[in-house]
Amino acid sequence: MLEAGPLEVEGPWISLQSLSKGNNTVPCRILRSLYLRANGEIPCDDDFGEQINLGWVPRNSKFSPTEIFTNEKYLAIEEAFNSQSMPWSRICNHCALNRPSDPPDNHLRSKVISYFQIEPTLACALACPGCSRSKQIRQRPGPHTLELNQLQNLLNGLLSEGYVVHNIEYCGQGEPLDHPNFKKIVEATRKAYPVGKQRLITNGNNDYRAKLDGTFIDEIMVSIDGATQQSYEKYRIGGALNTALNFTRNAKEANRKQFVVWKYILFTHNDTEDEIKLAEEIALGLGVDRLQFVRTHSEGKSVTWENKTLPLRWSNSVDTSTPLIERNSLP
Ligand SMILES: C[S@@+](CC[C@H](N)C(=O)[O-])C[C@H]1O[C@@H](n2cnc3c(N)ncnc32)[C@H](O)[C@@H]1O
Ligand code: SF4
Repeated sequence: MLEAGPLEVEGPWISLQSLSKGNNTVPCRILRSLYLRANGEIPCDDDFGEQINLGWVPRNSKFSPTEIFTNEKYLAIEEAFNSQSMPWSRICNHCALNRPSDPPDNHLRSKVISYFQIEPTLACALACPGCSRSKQIRQRPGPHTLELNQLQNLLNGLLSEGYVVHNIEYCGQGEPLDHPNFKKIVEATRKAYPVGKQRLITNGNNDYRAKLDGTFIDEIMVSIDGATQQSYEKYRIGGALNTALNFTRNAKEANRKQFVVWKYILFTHNDTEDEIKLAEEIALGLGVDRLQFVRTHSEGKSVTWENKTLPLRWSNSVDTSTPLIERNSLP
């Protein structure tokens, strides 16, 4: 999966590191996290194809998270971590979230979920070449849109067994706002976990007011890779830059407390100094809290700035990398 990864830069999101009990992190975040796919599946959230199924949320019978978290797959993960190995050797070796030098620590056993990821839908109107959505929609069993009663079943199970959830993120292989009832998803999770921090990752190719007006989300990250329509649409095929920029402006204007991030992946086609400068000027005008440049490992990645500092001028601009690059630069 191409994923955003836990944010290490300041924002409302509670970092996984700050939630650890003295240790820095775990070999990967799987024993601190829960990922619900649109079809009710709970997969390992590896970023190498998400091929391991860890369980399912049933539609018509009671869901017990404790039963899932102690099933043979989860026990295998725990055993592997405790014996300083990784559970799914080939997949873990390729997974960007694997941090082999970090100590094991099972937060699920203490009923703490630091990171609950929800994939509202596999639908998306765009066709970004590096995204595995089109492959996943062909290969994965349906449905491709999350059913609200299935989500509620999962939330009821978590609450009745006393699980705490710190962060909830709406993101998967698809566009979260293309779920026909995204607001209801947020309503259900807010009701269950009113103080949990919520984050939405979106392509912004929707009308903000129609989709979200009146719904508070702690952090909204909008993927806009380019400062002109011509460069933007090279990767965001089928996308409209102006729609994404309007979405971003409206997200900030709707509620100043929403932390709004413009995420800008650097490719060869959008990485000139002039375009970076233009993005900073537009971002300032939109009032975003952060303009986050991301160095990707994927095809078409920017090479101009490899091993060089980005020419950033604005104080809200940050230079970050995808988790795979971060992992490869670990000592
Ligand atoms: C699969 S998308 C789903 C959410 C939403 N449709 C979007 O594009 O923001 C999840 C994340 O992957 C990121 N992403 C897409 N292509 C990428 C690439 N080539 N390199 C790094 N991240 C990428 C997106 O920016 C987004 O943060
Ligand atoms: S907008 Fe997001 S989900 Fe849609 S194709 Fe692009 S990366 Fe994939």
